[in-house]
Amino acid sequence: MKRILITSAIPYINGIKHLGNLVGSQLPADLFARYHRARGNEVLFLCATDEHGTPAELAATKAGKPVAEYCANMHEVQAKIAQGFRLSFDHFGRSSSHQNKELTQHFAGRLAEQGLISEVDEQQVYSHTDGRFLPDRYIEGTCPNCSYDKARGDQCENCTKQLDPTDLINPRSAVSGSTDLEVRNTRHLYLRQSSLRDTLNDWISKKTDWPILTTSIAKKWLNDGEGLQDRGITRDLDWGVPVRKGDAAWPGMESKVFYVWFDAPIEYIACAREWVDAGKGTDWERWWRTDKGADDVSYYQFMGKDNVPFHTLSFPATILGSGEPWKLVDYIKSFNYLNYDGGQFSTSQGRGIFMDQALEILPSDYWRWWLLSHAPETSDSEFTWVNFQADVNKDLADVLGNFVSRVTKFCRSKFGETVPSGGSYGTREQALIADLQTRVQAYQTHMEALDVRKSAAELRAIWALGNEYLQAAEPWAVFKTNPEAAAAIVRLSLNLIALYGQLSAPFIPDAADAMRDAMGLPDLQWPESVVTALERCHAGDAFTVPENLFAKITDEQREEWSDRFSGIRS
Ligand code: 2FM
Ligand code: ZN
Repeated sequence: MKRILITSAIPYINGIKHLGNLVGSQLPADLFARYHRARGNEVLFLCATDEHGTPAELAATKAGKPVAEYCANMHEVQAKIAQGFRLSFDHFGRSSSHQNKELTQHFAGRLAEQGLISEVDEQQVYSHTDGRFLPDRYIEGTCPNCSYDKARGDQCENCTKQLDPTDLINPRSAVSGSTDLEVRNTRHLYLRQSSLRDTLNDWISKKTDWPILTTSIAKKWLNDGEGLQDRGITRDLDWGVPVRKGDAAWPGMESKVFYVWFDAPIEYIACAREWVDAGKGTDWERWWRTDKGADDVSYYQFMGKDNVPFHTLSFPATILGSGEPWKLVDYIKSFNYLNYDGGQFSTSQGRGIFMDQALEILPSDYWRWWLLSHAPETSDSEFTWVNFQADVNKDLADVLGNFVSRVTKFCRSKFGETVPSGGSYGTREQALIADLQTRVQAYQTHMEALDVRKSAAELRAIWALGNEYLQAAEPWAVFKTNPEAAAAIVRLSLNLIALYGQLSAPFIPDAADAMRDAMGLPDLQWPESVVTALERCHAGDAFTVPENLFAKITDEQREEWSDRFSGIRS
């Protein structure tokens, strides 16, 4: 039995994620977790909400709530939606937990002891009206390069020029619009990542099996321009993990918190502690400390490509720099972007379909199947309503749903609701079993290699084999002259439904449950071999005809949804 630790990038607390975010992290992580649990491996699958930072503070202000209350509410909202999508986290934690606070302060203290933290004096814009320092992107003004009047303090959206807030003409606060701004001195902590450049380079160079997307981004940051930069890890904010050196005060840092990107990945570890403290597990160090058993854990992270630099460089710098035996990630699976109907999904602009909206119109299996089978692995991919309708109708309704329905209904009408006896398997059946063996093997290989689209394609082909078999074997015709031979065809087909009920579970867990329940085998295990897997429904066993597994999406529905989601969510 293998031990597999899986984390998905933790979603920001402010707002609900869109389907592009879902397919780039939580959903493929869930696919992988479900697969490995089904294979009998010991899995710990963790995710959490990323609750600190200015966006969370501002969203709370906008909602008219104290930030802690806002985060607590939004955590519940996100947890409920995650359940709706059947994301099978062993724990869904919170980066604002006391466990994360302690661990974040611990890491900062260790990094300081190792000489990896420096104190740097900086100048930053302070807004008198807002009573706070403003992060660069919350300062707006006119671009000195192109005169665009809504340029941000970090970059002009119009001409893409990188800016400093002090470059802006007529700067104003993006929070309040106030121009009562002042440049003030402030001291911050920097993580001296640059001194770990060679260590990180050596580590990443050994990861020859990682997706090219992951390693190319990491290497670009390591080697481009001036190479790996030191990184500010503190902010002048109220909401966040207070800056301390372990449990000691940090002189001069009393009013500051750690930068959200410093504490967020540490939550992966803290989340395991939360899992234990919530009574769901007994030993978190067994997963995270190589001196306490985690040396035989395989650790996989899932994320969108924008998160890769933090996971390939900054978080490993924190772990390695601590000088303590923490578990490092073994494999980073990263994703390109999913686009939406000719443009981009955008949280800030409210463009696309958001997770809560998706569940309002269709059950999660429809989304899970389409998204995973179109996962943006090697390039960006695109959601269009036309494709979504066509693929769902074909794969789920015509191929899988139709097979299950035809077999169970035909059997009920001719033999009743028990697996029929009689007849034997001939060459057609042997050929089917041989094809299935090859395909199931390929399916497992792709799953283990985290090739999401290839796994989906293989599963689709496994479903199609059933339909092709039924079409060629024609039990309805055979029944007229040889009911025993028809019984054998139906018996094998019912066994195929049970097999599909197990193999499909990582992708479409609800439909998979329905298939196994219908065959009276709710606890069916992963097939050791196709031959034995096809002997689980015995002659005389009862089964039920399941409700239609998947309804087709009609043209009217497609048009209605396409209209409904063409605008901007307010
Ligand atoms: O991009 C995001 O949604 C971030 N909240 C991901 C953080 S992942 C990790 F480091 F915790
Ligand atoms: Zn510009």
